[in-house]
Amino acid sequence: MLRLDGKVAFVTGAGSAGPGWGNGKATAVLMARQGAWVFALDNRAEAAEETVAIIRAEGGEAMAHVADVTAAAQVAEAVAACVSAYGGIDILVNNVGGSFPGGAESLSEEDWERQIDFNLRSAFLCCKHAMPHLRARGRGAIVNLSSIAALRMSADRPHIAYSASKYGILALTKSVAMEQARQGVRCNTVVPGLMHTPLVEHRLVRQLGANDAEQLIARRNAQVPMGRMGDAWDIAHAVLFLASDEAKHITGTEIVVDGGISAAMP
Ligand SMILES: NC(=O)c1ccc[n+]([C@@H]2O[C@H](COP(=O)([O-])OP(=O)(O)OC[C@H]3O[C@@H](n4cnc5c(N)ncnc54)[C@H](O)[C@@H]3O)[C@@H](O)[C@H]2O)c1
Repeated sequence: MLRLDGKVAFVTGAGSAGPGWGNGKATAVLMARQGAWVFALDNRAEAAEETVAIIRAEGGEAMAHVADVTAAAQVAEAVAACVSAYGGIDILVNNVGGSFPGGAESLSEEDWERQIDFNLRSAFLCCKHAMPHLRARGRGAIVNLSSIAALRMSADRPHIAYSASKYGILALTKSVAMEQARQGVRCNTVVPGLMHTPLVEHRLVRQLGANDAEQLIARRNAQVPMGRMGDAWDIAHAVLFLASDEAKHITGTEIVVDGGISAAMP
């Protein structure tokens, strides 16, 4: 079940923001465990190399590549490097993204542009450049990362550009899925809820938690109907399923991995 032998997986943001497991890092390692050759792309060499070292230490196959997925020329170059090294691309995971707080009045135009580029343009560019190769394999799969921030808004802590761009990911996914439905490429989204990834200790604690990690973690856990945040492996397993041949009749849709948040009464 869920084997990826003989497949090449192009994973963006395959490192993680700090020690521990981010969604892209866990996805890259899990896909390698399932037999895929992993092209681990990150804009920080040390992050990509750490993931590759983990995969190789477990006997898997992976290569690190440094690129910024918001830059079209670097995306084109990365796709060419993957195809040249591994002979094609079967799976594209658009994992790069992240949030920046601010509402309609408080967010600057520059930060709006930056967020749209980071969360939406990045996925568009990777789809654009990888598509011919995914189609050539006859059974390509794209998995995009959205966020619960696309489905539920906070009155006191708006993230207008993050929410809009992650909602955009849902539409981008459906558009690509329909465009490619008869060309052999599936496209789906994973929607993470509140996850306990390095993001929490490395950025959110500073942004939201007044530097009190324990209090922030307890607050985030309490917001989840299941009583605790998920982790990067919860996301990685959903991505793996959607990328696998077991999901061969699934396209243009999403899996929400949020411990019940989106089903709960606010
Ligand atoms: N962590 C969460 O709680 C959470 C919740 C909802 C959604 N998500 C989504 O999951 C995805 C992954 O989040 P995460 O927190 O695991 O990631 P992360 O912040 O740990 O980042 C993963 C990697 O992306 C790399 N990266 C950043 N900008 C890049 C760029 N322009 N080009 C190439 N690489 C770049 C970083 O160097 C890092 O190694 C994102 O799309 C995020 O929006 C995360």
